[in-house]
Amino acid sequence: MRLSVAIDGPAGAGKSTIAKIVAKEFNLMYINTGAMYRAVTLKAIENNISPDNIEALCTIIEDMEMHFENDELYLNGININDQITLPNISQEVSAYASIGEVRIRLVNMQRTMSLKYDVIMDGRDIGTVVLKDAAYKFFLTATPEERANRRYEELRNKDIEVNYNQILKEIIRRDYADSHREIDPLKKAEDAIEIDTTGLSINGVVEKICSYIKSHKNI
Ligand code: DC
Repeated sequence: MRLSVAIDGPAGAGKSTIAKIVAKEFNLMYINTGAMYRAVTLKAIENNISPDNIEALCTIIEDMEMHFENDELYLNGININDQITLPNISQEVSAYASIGEVRIRLVNMQRTMSLKYDVIMDGRDIGTVVLKDAAYKFFLTATPEERANRRYEELRNKDIEVNYNQILKEIIRRDYADSHREIDPLKKAEDAIEIDTTGLSINGVVEKICSYIKSHKNI
């Protein structure tokens, strides 16, 4: 059986940074499922498709081949990492990610990846829906202020002009939307290990996850 590690948690909890390092440690493919919802949002905006036009959304998804290489998302052979992290995509993505028909399609793609490769997958519904049977499940949290600060630094490092208060507002809004939507809301799986990363270094969190996996390797 393939090895699967699920990492869930709210925006800015450090999921992707940590998942990438753990992936290297155990030779896993890193699948960033948020990037896949962002890719759908990017294509929808490019084609002027609003979230209520479900039929058109399903049609564009049919033509989207997504795969990951070196931790980055390729859409129909093109690396779209920089485009999907722009603030306008962050603003729109929860509206598209809350649509059941979109989720069914992306969850199928994600499960197919997990059958082909040993994976570490991060998102909101990995432990509860996508990889319910994953041997290892982690749920990362941090205060909204700490998460806003991390996102602020990340965007500043990319020379993108940003405002801290706006990012904090956006994170609080997105937390609410992600955890209150009807379909597959963000929530901790019963069997997930919760790690509050507030005040912890990246290495501190990586260490906790790696030592847990090593000590339970024969689950
Ligand atoms: O992790 P992120 O911020 O890049 O995720 C972008 C959006 O996609 C976020 O609003 C939540 C949503 N998402 C989701 O609904 N399910 C997932 N498995 C991953 C992300």
